[in-house]
Amino acid sequence: MAVLRGLVSDQEFEKAIDRDDEVGRGSNRLVFAVLGTSEYVIKESKQAFHYSNFVEWLVWGAVSEMKEDILGNAPNEEMAGKFAECVAISHSARYLMMERLSPISSSAQLQLSNFPQWLNDKKLSAFGTSPDGSVKVMDYGMVDFYQVLNPLNHQSFP
Ligand SMILES: Nc1ncnc2c1ncn2[C@@H]1O[C@H](COP(=O)(O)OP(=O)(O)OP(=O)(O)O)[C@@H](O)[C@H]1O
Ligand SMILES: [Mg+2]
Repeated sequence: MAVLRGLVSDQEFEKAIDRDDEVGRGSNRLVFAVLGTSEYVIKESKQAFHYSNFVEWLVWGAVSEMKEDILGNAPNEEMAGKFAECVAISHSARYLMMERLSPISSSAQLQLSNFPQWLNDKKLSAFGTSPDGSVKVMDYGMVDFYQVLNPLNHQSFP
């Protein structure tokens, strides 16, 4: 099964998901392996409104763009390296394909001050390690939008 990219149909995800290999579960989502690759997972939202998958897709799009040298913006090379990569989302947002991380075994591996304040969910199970050993957040569906959007919360505004 090829890795999915971008916005693809829910049916494509249903063909790629390995339902015999559940990687994890939370209150909103079930997380499964992907047929034919161990590098990614598929997060299946169980809610009527697939908020967490949608927010992760949105956040990944923003942090990965921060690496770019966009006119008038200082490139931020670091941010994308702190987030598990999202590669595809389904039309309804029920399914999201994300880089697979390994669980963190001890809180000693995690330095929370390295991560943005606007992440609302900072439990240990929200973080994991990539094959190169870097610690990344893999559950970033709960964002404090009040913190992000209020210019008075930032050093320079608006
Ligand atoms: N990218 C990933 N790679 C490997 N395992 C993952 C990944 N994303 C999630 N998991 C596993 O699946 C579990 C549930 O995923 P996630 O935390 O994203 O769902 P959730 O419904 O938002 O959970 P919660 O209710 O805890 O906030 C995680 O605790 C983790 O064990
Ligand atoms: Mg969550």
